[in-house]
Amino acid sequence: ETSGTSIQGVGSSMDPRMATGEDDTTLTDRQGHPIDNNQSMRTVGSRGPTTLENYHFIEKITHFDRERVPERVVHARGAGAHGFFEAYGTVGNEPIAKYTRASLFQEKGKETPVFVRFSSVIHGSHSPETLRDPRGFAVKFYTDEGNWDLVGNNLKVFFIRDAIKFPDLIHAFKPDPVTNVQDGVRIFDFIMNTPEAMMMITFLFSPWGIPANFRQMQGSGVNTYKWVNADGEAVLIKYHWEPKQGIKNLTQQEAEDIQGKNFNHATQDLYEAIKSGDFPEWELCVQIMSDDEHPELDFDPLDDTKLWPTDTFPFLPVGRMVLNRNPENYFAEVEQVAFGTGVLVDGLDFSDDKMLQGRTLSYSDTQRYRVGPNYLQLPINAPKKHIATNQRDGQMAYRVDKAPGQNPHINYEPSTLGGLHEATKTGKEYTPYIEGNLVRQVIERTNDFKYAGEQYRAFEDWERDDLILNLVGTLKPAPQHIQQGMTDLFTKCDPDYGRRVAEGLGLNDGIQSGKSSGLDAEFGAPLGAVHTEEG
Ligand code: HEM
Repeated sequence: ETSGTSIQGVGSSMDPRMATGEDDTTLTDRQGHPIDNNQSMRTVGSRGPTTLENYHFIEKITHFDRERVPERVVHARGAGAHGFFEAYGTVGNEPIAKYTRASLFQEKGKETPVFVRFSSVIHGSHSPETLRDPRGFAVKFYTDEGNWDLVGNNLKVFFIRDAIKFPDLIHAFKPDPVTNVQDGVRIFDFIMNTPEAMMMITFLFSPWGIPANFRQMQGSGVNTYKWVNADGEAVLIKYHWEPKQGIKNLTQQEAEDIQGKNFNHATQDLYEAIKSGDFPEWELCVQIMSDDEHPELDFDPLDDTKLWPTDTFPFLPVGRMVLNRNPENYFAEVEQVAFGTGVLVDGLDFSDDKMLQGRTLSYSDTQRYRVGPNYLQLPINAPKKHIATNQRDGQMAYRVDKAPGQNPHINYEPSTLGGLHEATKTGKEYTPYIEGNLVRQVIERTNDFKYAGEQYRAFEDWERDDLILNLVGTLKPAPQHIQQGMTDLFTKCDPDYGRRVAEGLGLNDGIQSGKSSGLDAEFGAPLGAVHTEEG
């Protein structure tokens, strides 16, 4: 309780606010002072000048000046919701304990609270939600063993397989550093030299690159993880979220129609569905592989540009997630939430997937910069269980992570004077044996084209038509060597794929329909607005 008066008698049971007529809705500053004039600065006479001791005014404006934290460098636009995960206790027909000892999965019906943030990737925090872009699907599980973040996307594969290429990939997709306009020419200049992206490009330029909303899309961990059981044995794992609402994607034209009227449609759709009690739900499935290199496969199980074939590695359900509560405040929850691939619980582990290892450095590093070094003390990020650390101080530290009864003088371990002590080990430690030369090398089984070709053939006709239309529209302004380079890659995936793109670009008949001046003077096509003569 705070008081703006000095008349409170010691021991008085009177609410001190009564003296000033203050109640719970009275405006105050953050010092608790009631504000009786929020309309006028303190000035010398009604026409000014102002004075420097305007505490309320200075607090109000300087706080306002700091209202934004830096937005996420990727995935800046997003929407979030609270809900719960309910475990089945099994994986397919087997008890889940055979594969993982993670406590949240063990008992049938066990519920774990979650917070989910959906996002688009490339453009800023108020960009249209109709853009052609992967969608983020990040889930924070507040488990009884601490937090687990499953930081996924809607699409199940990725553009690159080595984390060192990520800043270049994102620079190519982000707006041009001179014009500040996204440019398909820059994108395909990069992609033509990145053949491992063909599967992802095939999905991204098809209707799968514009999910209709957040409720009707899948999620995937994309990278390969591990599960570890009580005997310290591991398997390789891929995670998949399957929407009970079904899957719905948009053609470019449908997206443009929505965008002309509403560029927040996905956030609005999620918020309104939850508000009206129509709670979206996903089933969590895993694919399991034994923990080895699998030389019998023509791809590497640690390569995130590949799907694991579902006939050999079926989707096995392990639980379901329901989102049933909207955030109370967008900034406090959706903006300040911080997910990372390093945030695992006992029984879940990393694989050697080079993307996963690179990502695991990046997330907490960017969050210390974006939100601040004490970002894990914020309610949305803090686990809903006991924490006791010897981490202290730093910007915005607002509590001490101290255990009840802990000697407050002891912020180190080990100690005999009443400090914190290490936990007792549960389960057998998983200790993989690793040996090899230290190298900078691409993995052996790259197989960049075969599965993109299979995916091209697996699409329905309307999806293939839209894919070709979007690729041709974006490639039209590109110099001919980029058009040719991309066409060659599509041809390697499937001859019909290459032929249709070449035809659309007029490459075969020698009449080149696009400009070939490169980036000197012209804007290329941004991915969100591909207009062709046909479309
Ligand atoms: C967000 C880095 C690949 C999914 C981010 C952020 C960074 C980042 C720095 C901003 C985080 C923040 O400010 O809180 C990287 C790097 C990657 C990579 C270095 C590759 C080496 C991926 C992949 C996926 C993915 C493959 C999909 C599985 C996400 C999602 C978010 C995100 C969903 C948004 C999380 C949220 O809603 O707060 N990433 N990323 N990223 N990334 Fe990645």
